[in-house]
Amino acid sequence: MYVLGIESSCDDTAVAIVREGREISSHVRHSQIDLHAEYGGVVPETASRAHLEVMSLLVKKAMQSAEISWADLIGVAATAGPGLIGSILVGLQAAKGIAAAAERPFIGINHLCGHIYAAFLQNRGETTSVEPRFPLLGVVVSGGHSALYRVTGWDQYELLGATRDDAAGEAFDKIAKWLGLGFPGGPIIDQMAEKGNPHAIAFPRPLLHAKNLDMSFSGIKTSVIYWMRERGLKPGEISKGDLAHLTASFREAIVDVIFHKIEEALKRGPFRQVVVAGGVAANSRLRERLQMLKGRVEVIVPEIGLCADNAAMIGGLGYALLQLGYRSPLSLNADPNLPMDWLKKGDSSRHAN
Ligand code: KG4
Ligand code: ZN
Repeated sequence: MYVLGIESSCDDTAVAIVREGREISSHVRHSQIDLHAEYGGVVPETASRAHLEVMSLLVKKAMQSAEISWADLIGVAATAGPGLIGSILVGLQAAKGIAAAAERPFIGINHLCGHIYAAFLQNRGETTSVEPRFPLLGVVVSGGHSALYRVTGWDQYELLGATRDDAAGEAFDKIAKWLGLGFPGGPIIDQMAEKGNPHAIAFPRPLLHAKNLDMSFSGIKTSVIYWMRERGLKPGEISKGDLAHLTASFREAIVDVIFHKIEEALKRGPFRQVVVAGGVAANSRLRERLQMLKGRVEVIVPEIGLCADNAAMIGGLGYALLQLGYRSPLSLNADPNLPMDWLKKGDSSRHAN
């Protein structure tokens, strides 16, 4: 019961084979960070070309590494959105081609739902006792999105709140770019922040006490720029020590907003689990803060490697949805703004098993 999953919505080309929706039999990934680093962000045209160059090889490697043949597949899944349209198309078309040739069902996956699913994957040979228990609070914090969902099944997501401006990862990336620290900014700032005092600078926490579950990160970012300007500092002129305090205080403000919104969402439960996923879920301070919820609710954060974009989450969710009877037509198009209820929007259909 293997599903081949493909992810190509941004700057990672990834192919995985997932067994029974849980075990990662193989996972191969090609990162484009080096290609985009000098621009301080992902260049869409460059990204899609790079996906195309490595896709076939990665599919071959994933199959070889899992030691399976086409006949062992029960389906093929690929990210259908949201993301960069040219990039998504590469993975989507590859998946459709494989599905047609192997005569297996094809399913297009929402990338954000995949991130949440990543919490329930395990590496080959490992056993995990974590089973999804619905309703769960799904929190996606990534470079493109920051949102909270009530998840009542792998095909049921209700939006509870989302960022009104930048995504959390985007704020990390933009500030790192402005400070000339490199790309992607999240892991760089996370590391620098370890040596600083998180309470050194009181950056704002927008919408913290608002009655809704919406978030806002762009004001925190602007405050960093003002803090520097008020001291007559240009990026590159700040001392190492102050940079550590600045990054620690910035990280703390972002994590505070996310954490408080999770706490607020929990009051609107009941939730049997909380899943925090997406690239920013790799943040060490956020992971530390989430420990504080233990005892109140079961908190599941994917292992660091599965927080970032990966294909195992696509193959895994693909399996779960195929089991629920969903299929996508080979005419399925890439959608840069694919909604969370994409399965019900006519792009995919449900067949009785
Ligand atoms: O989920 P992801 O790999 O791609 C998207 O779907 O966007 O997330 C990438 C984002 C980037 O903005 C990156 O800076 C951020 O996740 N990120 C982090 C950390 N590691 C990656 N942000 C904060 N702390 C980290 N340790
Ligand atoms: Zn992502």
